[in-house]
Amino acid sequence: MALFPFAWVRGLASLLYPLRLLVARGWLRESDVDAGLALLHPALRLNRVFARVTQRQWVADDMLELTLRANGNWRGAQPGQHLQLYLERDGVRLSRSYSLTAVQADCSVQVAIKHQAGGRVSPFLLERLAVGDVLELGQAYGELSWPAAQQGVLLLAAGSGITPLLGLLRTALAQGFSAPITLLHYVREQGQRGFVAELQALQAQHSNLQVRWSLTAARAEAGDLAGRFTSAHLAAVTELEQRRVLACGPAGFVAQVQQWWQAAGLPGALQVEAFTPPALSRDISERQVRLGFARSHQQALANNQRSLLEHAEAQGLKPAYGCRQGICASCTCTLVSGTVRDLRSDALFSEPGQPIRLCVSAAHSDVEIDL
Ligand code: FES
Repeated sequence: MALFPFAWVRGLASLLYPLRLLVARGWLRESDVDAGLALLHPALRLNRVFARVTQRQWVADDMLELTLRANGNWRGAQPGQHLQLYLERDGVRLSRSYSLTAVQADCSVQVAIKHQAGGRVSPFLLERLAVGDVLELGQAYGELSWPAAQQGVLLLAAGSGITPLLGLLRTALAQGFSAPITLLHYVREQGQRGFVAELQALQAQHSNLQVRWSLTAARAEAGDLAGRFTSAHLAAVTELEQRRVLACGPAGFVAQVQQWWQAAGLPGALQVEAFTPPALSRDISERQVRLGFARSHQQALANNQRSLLEHAEAQGLKPAYGCRQGICASCTCTLVSGTVRDLRSDALFSEPGQPIRLCVSAAHSDVEIDL
């Protein structure tokens, strides 16, 4: 229940500065302030980013594009970046990373959600999340970027790997990029060709853009390629050796592209992004790791069995806390880099910008946190 319209939420962000000061000095707890703010509007928070769903649009049989307008704590984003979406389901906090398909000037972003059979997050987002609902986001992160020079570009995408590349492509074309662009998108079947109508329209408008699809689990139709990525699919790509290559998709697809690129000995640059990261080491035996507290400019050696809250206190820092059992969220802090382990479940988390509960998180690798 909101006491005022969402438009006011963004304007109020700067007026919350005195409250931020009181929290920083330890006179108020951020979780208490947030609880009060949420009573005024569900998207109003001191520092955390919440966003309102303003549009839903199906862009493939199994992919939905959401438009989200963030509150005033959003620091902005670049096309090609990603963000975390957070949900609370049956008392369990869940998060997933999604790529931005568009970044708009009014602090709105678009993300595309692909249905994952048996998943806990995507079915809810696709089937239950409605226009007007509010959900929590992380800040945007990621390094994928469009080449600065007016030189040919080859985009290779598999499955939902199309999403960050589409964000970059939309922006580049809107800004007048005129060098040749070839996009090859690998999907299992016709209905999974995300954004197909828009890509065909862009191709009709921009003579420098060529889009081809390859079906990996269905018979190819006229004009389509067939099967998984192979160098034979690049036979019609002109001036290949001068192109910058951007590839995004599952780790196996990205590894295939990297092997091809190395074997071809191309002089241009290759940027890749795999959305199933290489498996993290599951070794949780006792060891020392390096811990960085970004805002306090402190470094420490940490034991990977003790909580980050204990380590912070041992350093003389005074992070807010309540239950010290992972329940109240008072100790929530942002992960800047590295991997942390949830001491209750041994689950590993390594997305930058992810909120973590210090009292039940331990460093699994060298870690930096925003404290
Ligand atoms: S102190 Fe309550 S969740 Fe960490």
